[in-house]
Amino acid sequence: MRIILLGPPGSGKGTQAKALSKALNITHISTGDILREEVKNNTPLGLQAKKYIDSGLLVPDDLVIRMLGARLNGPDIKEGFILDGFPRNIMQAEALDEILKPKKVEIDNVFYLDASEPVIIQRLSGRRICSNCGAIFHIKNMPPKVEGTCDKCNGNIYQRSDDYPETIKNRLKVYLKETAALIDYYKKQKRLHNINADKDAQHLVGDILKITASKHDHSQV
Ligand code: AP5
Repeated sequence: MRIILLGPPGSGKGTQAKALSKALNITHISTGDILREEVKNNTPLGLQAKKYIDSGLLVPDDLVIRMLGARLNGPDIKEGFILDGFPRNIMQAEALDEILKPKKVEIDNVFYLDASEPVIIQRLSGRRICSNCGAIFHIKNMPPKVEGTCDKCNGNIYQRSDDYPETIKNRLKVYLKETAALIDYYKKQKRLHNINADKDAQHLVGDILKITASKHDHSQV
């Protein structure tokens, strides 16, 4: 099964993608995580991407499309994948269609995680990430058992460089200007499912899995 998680920053795409990847046994691909790893390793791509990420802007399409195209050639995507953070605009969506065409596969479901602005701000300002395994926490909603330490691997927990108020504002603007248009793009293709993302994380996984279960037979055709 091939899934796209679409939604504003902080709507819970990463949290849902990790849970769905486990439940459906398919690969989670987060372009944000790949880019942050490139930045951490000071690669040429990371050096180019850092300034865009830190100011809440999209990394140029050509760089991200090339990166995603290479990732989709990986041996771990045969059973399907969950895209989290890609596509971010119409150009990326069209590029994805072109990447998938020669592979003779299509996107089965696009879940639009529809979260309200106060919820988004609360989630992003309290988010913390494990620097070692990438687990996602929240100081109030999903706190680690020991402050500053990851429950899963004992790694150090940090705040993302783009989770500060000014950058959050920019990311929301960019989302509305560039990414929100994808809701119509996938609605027209009849692949879009609207999910109320203000609910707690467990409910959301349940809502999404119900839809994937009902679509499963169709996706195997
Ligand atoms: P990216 O990493 O993709 O960030 P984003 O889309 O802004 O989304 P976030 O990761 O901020 O939020 P999320 O929806 O995953 O929420 P999460 O699950 O963490 O991109 C970062 C940057 O990289 C971009 O700005 C851009 O520069 C660049 N980039 C990436 N992809 C690109 C592309 N395709 N093209 C160009 N540039 C690209 O949850 C948030 C918090 O809420 C957490 O603390 C979590 O614990 C909590 N939470 C989650 N769900 C719930 C819930 N249901 N109830 C209560 N709390 C919850």
